[in-house]
Amino acid sequence: MSTIKIKDKEFAVSIPEEKILKEVERIAAQISKDLEGKNPLFLAVLNGSFVFAADLFRRITIPAEISFVKLASYEGTSSTGVIKEVMGLSENIAGRTVVVVEDIIDTGCTMAKLVENLGTRAPESIHICSLLLKPEKLKVKLDVEYVALEIPNDFIVGYGLDYDGFGRNLKDIYTVVE
Ligand code: IMP
Ligand code: MG
Repeated sequence: MSTIKIKDKEFAVSIPEEKILKEVERIAAQISKDLEGKNPLFLAVLNGSFVFAADLFRRITIPAEISFVKLASYEGTSSTGVIKEVMGLSENIAGRTVVVVEDIIDTGCTMAKLVENLGTRAPESIHICSLLLKPEKLKVKLDVEYVALEIPNDFIVGYGLDYDGFGRNLKDIYTVVE
């Protein structure tokens, strides 16, 4: 098995690019069908979701807008649980159908906070879309409507996701090798 090294950790490919794109295609088609006529506003959560958001949004076939927000709660390989504020939301989302686009839902705390914050701004509806979901780690109640891939409880990098800032440019998704 060929591995790569980022800082102190070894990683091996766990989800190849073709598999990722096939699943991105599938949820883009589903969202386009479900939200037809709603002119949804996609809100991609930076930094991690930028690659996924670009691939997803280009496969959306209905009129739609996209904007970006930033918040972070993660350092190293375990969630700190510290939620930073929602930054960069300049759009008025009142009355809008909002699709929040995340790279990964781990404990779900980040997404829960974000949805709570967005909920105070009177959107028509909020739909959660995540590239990845670690079902075993989820510790809050969340209705994740669109998930490209469910993964085990291991730390991953690539396709936008990082380990201490590195690895985002990898085309495939890699899992840490213990
Ligand atoms: P949560 O609040 O525990 O759901 O953490 C979500 C955030 O943690 C994501 O937006 C990611 O930035 C980061 N994260 C969680 N798991 C991983 C991982 O396996 N690799 C890289 N980042 C991760
Ligand atoms: Mg993130």
